[in-house]
Amino acid sequence: MSKGKILVTGGTGYIGSHTVVDLLENGFDVVSADNYHNSTASVLDGIEAITGVRIVNHNIDLADQAATAKLFEEHRFDGAIHFAAFKSVGESVEQPLEYYRNNLNSMMNVMDGLQRQGSSNLVFSSSCSVYGNADELPVRETTPRKTAESPYARTKQMGEDILYDFCAHHRDFKAILLRYFNPAGAHPSGKIGESAANPASNLVPVITEVGAGKRDKLTVFGNDYDTRDGSCVRDYIHVSDLAHAHTLAVEALLGETGTENPALYNLGIGEGLTVLEVINAFEKVSGKTLNYEIGPRRAGDVIAVYADRSKATRELKWEPQYDVEDIMRTAWAWEEKR
Ligand code: WQD
Repeated sequence: MSKGKILVTGGTGYIGSHTVVDLLENGFDVVSADNYHNSTASVLDGIEAITGVRIVNHNIDLADQAATAKLFEEHRFDGAIHFAAFKSVGESVEQPLEYYRNNLNSMMNVMDGLQRQGSSNLVFSSSCSVYGNADELPVRETTPRKTAESPYARTKQMGEDILYDFCAHHRDFKAILLRYFNPAGAHPSGKIGESAANPASNLVPVITEVGAGKRDKLTVFGNDYDTRDGSCVRDYIHVSDLAHAHTLAVEALLGETGTENPALYNLGIGEGLTVLEVINAFEKVSGKTLNYEIGPRRAGDVIAVYADRSKATRELKWEPQYDVEDIMRTAWAWEEKR
């Protein structure tokens, strides 16, 4: 028997597709809405190969209010996970209006759709980038947000604020906000992973592309920071661990007893690793020597950020299963397959 019908927006995207798999494996029915802006329909084959289920994807633009309203006329959802968004920090600086229009309208349309059909239960994808250069490490959910470093990060701050305002008025609308740290790796089956649609700019895919000879070398953005080895510190979280947290969040919403609404959780492993440590992990699991050089600092980088994840572990019973070597092993297997 199905535990409920969940709308996953951005269901063919990187985190979305891994979450669809986890939801299906945990007894939920899933409908996806994704316009393939940053993915392809072939992801549906990967999901089917892992789970045996061919999910339906609605190829619509969620920023289009009429199209989104129609989706909610066709289905009655027990809840929604809203991943669909533009996510490139650099691009957001060049195209701020596109980012605000897309990321905020889509979110409001999904909230509207749920509310109009009398259901609630929304999981919203936020980001550790809302913390900016935080005053304390590890960051806790109560650590104050600082000025966003990019329009992308600001859309996440604004998305959070909109949800708080909405829930304050609609007391029966339940929501969970999840702040992701640095998602990386691929499904252990090797059948889904990060999309190759755009040239990679995040650390882990850049490393695997250099390892595969698709690009010459990796530039480490700075080794003169006040950290263990001078390179920046981040909290790398395996995408399948991140995905499972969404299933737990949906289960918590459906069986909700808590009082905090929206409830807010950090999703990181809780450990900071430097860029050089991530490179070492790659070299260890691949047996390759990575061609890298030390370059200048990258504008907008925070020095160090990693999560206190005790709240998600305590309340959602979330325990990450994978470490950085698993991340590099699965990311490398995915790269070699591509
Ligand atoms: C990680 C570290 C770089 C590439 C961003 C967003 C965040 C989230 C994830 C989600 C940094 C260093 C990187 C390279 C390097 N977005 N690096 N050489 O900037 O922590 O987070 O992506 O959608 O919201 O802000 O991730 O992977 O770009 O960088 O040295 O070629 O690797 O300086 O320290 P970041 P990243």
